Amino acid sequence: MADNRAIGIFDSGIGGLTVVKRVEQLLSGEDIIYFGDTARVPYGTKSNSTVIEYSIQNTIYLMQKNVKMIVVACNTASSVAMDTLRKYFNVPFISMIEPGSDFALRETKNRRIGVVGTNATINNKAYSKDLLKKNGDLYVVEKSCPLFVPLAEEGWLDHNATEIIAKEYLSKLTEKDIDTLILGCTHYPVLTEIIQRVVGENVKLIDSGFASSHKVKEYLTTHDMLNEKAVNGKHDFFVSDVPSKFKEIAERFLGREVENLQKIDVEHLVRH
Ligand code: DGL
Repeated sequence: MADNRAIGIFDSGIGGLTVVKRVEQLLSGEDIIYFGDTARVPYGTKSNSTVIEYSIQNTIYLMQKNVKMIVVACNTASSVAMDTLRKYFNVPFISMIEPGSDFALRETKNRRIGVVGTNATINNKAYSKDLLKKNGDLYVVEKSCPLFVPLAEEGWLDHNATEIIAKEYLSKLTEKDIDTLILGCTHYPVLTEIIQRVVGENVKLIDSGFASSHKVKEYLTTHDMLNEKAVNGKHDFFVSDVPSKFKEIAERFLGREVENLQKIDVEHLVRH
């Protein structure tokens, strides 16, 4: 048995390409249809109801393309929309939250875990709720780091300003003696080097996209849904806008050239 349909992946914009990169690395034979809602990004500063509505529209869009699974490659959407999506759509979903917290639980030795993400992800306490549900004997400290998103897009990956901002945000976590830090936002893996330097080598960083890609593989394997191809999956990228410097940012996040890019009309999403 196999399922040769594509994996659908959506994000609020370009950040989800860090997740696509991980899925590509792990499952090179899978076809991928990516949708980035670049016309309506960011989601991290929007209300829950707006993010849920957009997530429903993105899901309908991908389901019309007959995908076999949907990866919600946006921590913000994963934080607020999963219950609704799972309730109304009959397709397997992989979110960023559960896989990220599973990896963190596996790594921590002192049971003190930090979480960073957008305002919405942190305000909704998505990670701490999931972590504490799985293990009540934990200390979890969360911090929103909204400036990391524009810094990653600007490409200030090794810039003094980024280091100063990272120290300001992350000292609130390191002073709590965490040994594991979940990067709960699509953009943060791009800043791994600076974040690791600031928190110190003894803190294990968890890339939620990396964790989720393993969940995708596990799900497809246990449900006999892998694509039969071993390599050369076809990847199509759809966005609702092509912002300035799109190519440069997208390639930084994906780690390679973005081909097969098409812009779709937001109207197309709203009409359902
Ligand atoms: N993709 C979002 C996330 O992972 C970050 C960008 C946004 O705020 O939309 O939370």
